[in-house]
Amino acid sequence: MAEELIISTTASKKEKYESLLPQIEALISYEDDLIANLANISAALKQGMGFFWVGFYMVKGDELVLGPFQGPIACTRIRMGKGVCGTAWEKNETLLVPNVDEFPGHIACSSASKSEIVIPISKAGKVTLILDVDSEQLDDFDEVDKEWLEKLVMIVEGNL
Ligand code: SME
Repeated sequence: MAEELIISTTASKKEKYESLLPQIEALISYEDDLIANLANISAALKQGMGFFWVGFYMVKGDELVLGPFQGPIACTRIRMGKGVCGTAWEKNETLLVPNVDEFPGHIACSSASKSEIVIPISKAGKVTLILDVDSEQLDDFDEVDKEWLEKLVMIVEGNL
């Protein structure tokens, strides 16, 4: 397939997700290598949604280790229960953080990051990956992001 995304710059956030998700689903359906797919998903989300930082952490033993991402360099290892990512992993639930400075134990990989949404990805009921999205704006994520990023995570889970 042609590796080119169709993205409208004038669409609403919901419309952008609506158009992007089927394209991501098609993109990863042609490939069974997890890292290759996570790399392309990061790039598609960065390009399609204009996120400041978007990427994956991979569960390795009792730590999260940085996986494919797009954006500034980031922390490579996060312990379970630490930061937004480690907490989302421990609780196995989506965490929407409007102001990272108000999240106890937030790990500041970049001082530019102001708000964040983190969604765990599971295989056979166990969290194996974390999707993390950061914004330079306060309160930049809402229920629309939660709904659509959780849909994206379901697509990823279907390919694990
Ligand atoms: N802020 C995250 C760390 C990962 S970076 O944002 C890429 C956290 O508190 O877990």
